[in-house]
Amino acid sequence: MLETSIVTGHQDSGLATLVPYLRCVHCGKGAVHFSKGLANCEECGKGFALRDGRFPDFLTDEDREQLKKELAFWEDHFANTVYQDESEASYQRWATLMQVKNQDTVLEIGCGSGALLTRLPAKVRVGLEPAACLLTATSGFFGVIGSAEAMPFKGEVFDMAFFKHSLHHVQDKAKAFAEAVRVLKKGGRLIIMEPNAEHPQRRLISNPESLFRKLSPVVKLIGPVETFQTVDELVELGYENHLKVEKILYTESHYDRVTVRQRLQRLYSRSLRTVVPQKYLMPNYYVQFRKPLDV
Ligand SMILES: C[S@@+](CC[C@H](N)C(=O)[O-])C[C@H]1O[C@@H](n2cnc3c(N)ncnc32)[C@H](O)[C@@H]1O
Ligand SMILES: [Zn+2]
Repeated sequence: MLETSIVTGHQDSGLATLVPYLRCVHCGKGAVHFSKGLANCEECGKGFALRDGRFPDFLTDEDREQLKKELAFWEDHFANTVYQDESEASYQRWATLMQVKNQDTVLEIGCGSGALLTRLPAKVRVGLEPAACLLTATSGFFGVIGSAEAMPFKGEVFDMAFFKHSLHHVQDKAKAFAEAVRVLKKGGRLIIMEPNAEHPQRRLISNPESLFRKLSPVVKLIGPVETFQTVDELVELGYENHLKVEKILYTESHYDRVTVRQRLQRLYSRSLRTVVPQKYLMPNYYVQFRKPLDV
């Protein structure tokens, strides 16, 4: 059993634990404090709502406008459900790879229901998520409503931050990446797990302007604004942000129910891997960066 000492985001004591990690997104400087159901900035005085008295809501009107399609997608398909699309074995496999320590403070960016986050043996788990409806039925971590491009967290507060299948939903990836680096402690790790943009099937829908993407029924299922990035593009972002690359792995997908299409895809990948580099054939990747101690 994983340690579950963490309180849920539903309790006042939970919010008290969260406060030291938060900053105001309006002025970007102030620390916040909670009183009477509002998080208030100590510098500019602006307040932020608590959603249903549970999750601090740091989305600005501007964010909400920019995220309109994305938020509508989650409201339409996953309102108040626990979004979880992988098998238990798969979550455990990710958790083992990530090597989180009991004393770590961990942030998942675009956490959904926090399916993987809640399985990590961390001291404090925080999930940033713009779609409030995905947080409603959750527990086991502190949910914060906000966007990756302007995180409501102070600098250098997390030992590890990760995007799992969420960076391709973010419109300004460079901004989100730099934000993740900002909130990481020196020596901390940034981990990105994503669908592999080099995979032939992904390539066809990666370009938002491609005719195939416009016609593909897959797009209706995966959401409106996804654009996928290659490992090379991520590594480039890592260098621009002075990170060290620690690990690059290409991985298979693991689902509870494996469809015939997924079986065929796996067979196709395995047979071709002998002649074609695996980066073009594996469905997912895992990239781990470390923030140097001297930046
Ligand atoms: C495919 S889900 C993955 C959820 C979760 N990480 C998981 O693996 O189960 C993509 C997530 O990215 C979130 N997302 C979309 N735009 C975002 C943004 N600008 N900042 C942070 N998260 C975002 C979505 O709301 C959604 O929860
Ligand atoms: Zn402020």
